Amino acid sequence: MYSDPIMQQSIRKVEAARARNIRLDPRRMSAEEKDRLLKAFHPDYREDQFALLDFGPNRGEKVPLELRALLEGTPRLTGSRVDLEHPDFETDVLIIGGGGAGCSAAIEADRAGCSVLLVTKLRVGDANTMMAEGGIQAADKPNDSPAQHFLDAYGGGHFAAQKDLLRKLVTEAPEAIAWLSGLGVEFDKAPDGTMITTHGGGTSRKRMHAAKDYSGAEIMRTLRDEVFNRPIRVVDFTAAVELVKDDRGCCAGAVLVNMETKELLVAKAKTVILATGGAGRLHYQGFPTSNHYGATADGLILGYRAGARLLYPDTLQYHPTGAAFPAQIYGALVTEKVRSVGAMLVNASGEVFMNPLETRDVAAAAIIRECTERGNGVPTPEGSAVWLDTPMIELKNGAGAIEKRIPAMLRMFGKHGIDIRTEPILVYPTLHYQNGGLKITVDGQTDVENLFAAGEVVGGIHGRNRLMGNSLLDVIVFGRNAGIHAAQKAKTVTVGTLTLAHLDAFERERAAAGVETGLRSPQLLPDYARRLNPLK
Ligand code: FUM
Repeated sequence: MYSDPIMQQSIRKVEAARARNIRLDPRRMSAEEKDRLLKAFHPDYREDQFALLDFGPNRGEKVPLELRALLEGTPRLTGSRVDLEHPDFETDVLIIGGGGAGCSAAIEADRAGCSVLLVTKLRVGDANTMMAEGGIQAADKPNDSPAQHFLDAYGGGHFAAQKDLLRKLVTEAPEAIAWLSGLGVEFDKAPDGTMITTHGGGTSRKRMHAAKDYSGAEIMRTLRDEVFNRPIRVVDFTAAVELVKDDRGCCAGAVLVNMETKELLVAKAKTVILATGGAGRLHYQGFPTSNHYGATADGLILGYRAGARLLYPDTLQYHPTGAAFPAQIYGALVTEKVRSVGAMLVNASGEVFMNPLETRDVAAAAIIRECTERGNGVPTPEGSAVWLDTPMIELKNGAGAIEKRIPAMLRMFGKHGIDIRTEPILVYPTLHYQNGGLKITVDGQTDVENLFAAGEVVGGIHGRNRLMGNSLLDVIVFGRNAGIHAAQKAKTVTVGTLTLAHLDAFERERAAAGVETGLRSPQLLPDYARRLNPLK
């Protein structure tokens, strides 16, 4: 239900062009066209939005301004007294983060016979995994192979992925689907029991497995149940504010804060897994985000201060289709599956301006160009946007296809009076994913001994752009992997005397560099949640 006359006029053009548009198969851009487009319009190429780090493991390297202010910010513990001699918790494996990667790691570390403590600043499952919609990739059909999956992801990531990590991701994907199915995830299936798979942007085969368009919620529900069914200790509403090392320089736990009481707590561990997720709530360059409230880059800050290098911290993913209207859902994810099942992107005049399944960075840049340089966007209260012509879906797939394949989208817009079966929707890029993050080995270990990482906090698996469905896959494959290896390592570790000497060293470096960003970090919650953030 669009009451704005300009939107109504534009919808009439979209409707008039639909019968012609639906028959189009827009050509893909050439490599040169993509390169030019990205450089001119993708937010990663806006030089004024980045700064070089002044100190630390990535000194001299480029990061977004907002991230630099936190990486070089004042540690929250500065000025606090922490009793490291009497830890509040002791465990073999400490997992920080209760999303898909943290839970997968916890399940495997528990299975390996270790004691596991999982701490999470909100509740288990309050994570980007829960909000993932479109699906999870795995080459498990006869016309596909992990090698084909590798080629798609490697090209889509601009040939920058760490090959050993990507190889692991794609080769273990079929097993990840089998593992999730065994735990109880209900993937969409045909009447004969075979998995229904679709394309995503940049895929050469249909390998996206989904649970309608709430795939992440279905996966997270299952993982959370499995964690709760095991003797895994879960401490929620408790955030990690600093890692702790021992006198040999190995990671040996974390200082935590109870989000309600503000009490500082110490967890001592033989190995630690950072699974804190991404950074969408930093709203880089003022973009809205599809991310959950806890996505504030905490793991990057903690790891960096402890001496772990970051890989590609300057590359972010702007999902091409964030909801642009109405304001109540501004920035919310409109799954790529909407395009996989037949909707096309059209401008204010109803013209198709790109192939709807270009890779995400290219699609986002094309939409930004359409709305800026070409002036072909539809004016919205927040700026301008293009149409995603959802009524095409039922014209192509028959009545009932939307309810069956993308019911969450139908409901999200339906709540605001827009029936996506008969009306198109307005979309614009939204900050969705952190392509870069902590550098890890194929065993999930960071540069800091006994510190592992998994999930969105890791960089390098996808290179400089990630394909749809490879993130749900990554949290499962690398979450489990980190759990297995952290448990194996924990069995060999004797923790020395706990210390925060690395924090003192960080503070000396900061003082020597003369840096004062005016922010305390990790941030824990977005600025606009100040009331809820006990440390503000
Ligand atoms: O569009 C989507 O459903 C998002 C998927 C992903 O980021 O992998």
